[in-house]
Amino acid sequence: MGSGGWGTALALVLLENGHDVTLWSYTEAECAVLKEQRENPMLKGVSLPEGLKLTSDSSCVKGCGVVVLATPSFAVRATARALAPLLEPGTVLVSVSKGIEKDTSLTLTEAIAQEVGERCPIVALSGPSHAEEVGRQIPTAVVSASKDRSAAELVQDLFMNERFRVYASDDVVGVELGAALKNVIALCAGVCDGMGYGDNTKAALMTRGLTEIARLGVAMGGRRETFAGLTGVGDLIVTCTSMHSRNRRCGILIGKGVPAQQAVQEIGAVVEGYYAAATARALAQKVGVEMPITEAAYQVLYCGKDPQSVIVELMTRERKHELEDSWV
Ligand SMILES: NC(=O)c1ccc[n+]([C@@H]2O[C@H](COP(=O)([O-])OP(=O)(O)OC[C@H]3O[C@@H](n4cnc5c(N)ncnc54)[C@H](O)[C@@H]3O)[C@@H](O)[C@H]2O)c1
Repeated sequence: MGSGGWGTALALVLLENGHDVTLWSYTEAECAVLKEQRENPMLKGVSLPEGLKLTSDSSCVKGCGVVVLATPSFAVRATARALAPLLEPGTVLVSVSKGIEKDTSLTLTEAIAQEVGERCPIVALSGPSHAEEVGRQIPTAVVSASKDRSAAELVQDLFMNERFRVYASDDVVGVELGAALKNVIALCAGVCDGMGYGDNTKAALMTRGLTEIARLGVAMGGRRETFAGLTGVGDLIVTCTSMHSRNRRCGILIGKGVPAQQAVQEIGAVVEGYYAAATARALAQKVGVEMPITEAAYQVLYCGKDPQSVIVELMTRERKHELEDSWV
């Protein structure tokens, strides 16, 4: 459900694995382009085999054993709500979007659960995975996380092949928060690149960024080890260092002086880190954890603060111990 870059790349993995796959587009126009060109403009050079069914009719989920939700995070709840009456009990729902719900601060699987109730097991599939690279069949590893072990392992089996490796996990909160929050750090990495800063700055940003992501994640019930895994440091590496990352590209524009709103519009596709900066900040305040980099990102993105002065403020915060429990 969602024929953007990611929904399409994952549909191709499932098709390659011999499954009966239908790719649903949000609009008829989007579906018509796919039917006509047998290529997704978001995944140039990757052709869509005839075996991949294309539709914009959401009743396609009737009778499906597994439904993958691949819309932008802001549309996940509405999509789940629209599908709920069409789903058979036991249908496994797979959330592959990355974000935190804006108004509720819920993770996306939590929002889906509110819409479909207990009837359907829910899995988060996440990790360091650019659609462009999965579409080109480049080896990739991700995590299938669910409280329901058999659902996590079912999704693992459905997607796994010689170029797409899937690990299973029961730490759904840890997996989802790592995925959502790294987009904020990737945006900041782009800002630093746009300002002409170097590898030292980016290494510091990524490492301290991961520290604060894990701090919030653990406070929310995630396991610390998850943040050292594929959906934590793995996804952080991939998004902070690649030009495939629209969050990083958006940051680069901001670092070069483009106002934040305009930069988001110029990217032309959803920049999840922009929204995640506001939700992560709200969550951090709610649970009482310190997230100085996320706060700095918020100040630049929403309050029009100059990145240069924000970086000076970050660098001159009161001195700290690297490990919070040093000498206690
Ligand atoms: N692109 C990637 O490499 C990648 C990798 C992993 C995870 N993700 C996550 O997957 C999600 C989708 O990303 P994408 O890259 O495919 O985005 P995209 O912008 O390429 O496509 C999103 C799709 O959702 C549809 N859509 C837009 N508004 C909608 C609405 N209101 N209701 C239902 N559908 C709507 C669009 O028409 C489009 O088909 C994001 O949360 C992203 O963070 C992306």
